[in-house]
Amino acid sequence: MGEAPLDGSASDYFGAMTESYDSLIRRSVPRYDEMTDRLAQYLPVDAGRVLELGCGTGNLSERLAKNLPSASIVFVDGSDEMIAVTRSRLGAGSAPAGGSREFIAARFEDLSPVPGSFDLVVSSISLHHVDDKAALYEHIRHLLRPGGRFCFADQIRGEPESNHQLNWRTWLEFCALPGHCSKEEIESLVQHSAAHDHYTTLADHFALLSGARFAEIDCVWRNSMWGIVTATAASAEKSGSERNNARQAVSVSRSWY
Ligand SMILES: C[S@@+](CC[C@H](N)C(=O)[O-])C[C@H]1O[C@@H](n2cnc3c(N)ncnc32)[C@H](O)[C@@H]1O
Repeated sequence: MGEAPLDGSASDYFGAMTESYDSLIRRSVPRYDEMTDRLAQYLPVDAGRVLELGCGTGNLSERLAKNLPSASIVFVDGSDEMIAVTRSRLGAGSAPAGGSREFIAARFEDLSPVPGSFDLVVSSISLHHVDDKAALYEHIRHLLRPGGRFCFADQIRGEPESNHQLNWRTWLEFCALPGHCSKEEIESLVQHSAAHDHYTTLADHFALLSGARFAEIDCVWRNSMWGIVTATAASAEKSGSERNNARQAVSVSRSWY
């Protein structure tokens, strides 16, 4: 699976495995293609300006390009190597039906396009690498026009803890199935997770999205640790007291259990 470094960023880790990624992801994420297809089904077909965060080797990107041929799509990944793979897979510049493709190697947190410039922000199994999701969701909502959609697939922390532990064991069993991952690959994935993953419960995702002024928040698909969440960007800025309420909403949702 290549020399995947654990001491750098999550992007360094994935950037070192462009060759093996597509095989490894299917051997280590249960129902990966089904989840990617389902996410693609929930995207608005009339989105004109689209941003994908964490495109990796372009598995969701390819579906976006096919389903939204006239859209202007910006693909972002923190790894130069991953962006290069997606670019060569899709082709840069103009798309056949008048859309365009742009490829940017950058961290999500550092993006600064014009506020309100996207109709859709989409991501697949990438956002769990960001610890401060309150800031991330605020940032994403600013990038969207009012009414724009934010749809992502990701690992979700189960709760109570016994649910999370069961999901974790189920994942390891899947990885260890014949023909799936070697012991070394499993060890590397577990170490990567400890170093770079920040799992958030569904209740906290909902509270954080709501706090960042998203509405119509829904979980449209779930399989053990993996889920798909969709939301709509609301319009107005929130007041200082609403911001405080949003932060409290997260601590309240944690103390329910
Ligand atoms: C597990 S891969 C997912 C790739 C693809 N979306 C998929 O579904 O197969 C995670 C990707 O997110 C990128 N990534 C992780 N954290 C990032 C960050 N903070 N900023 C930009 N890219 C990041 C990694 O470089 C990697 O390509």
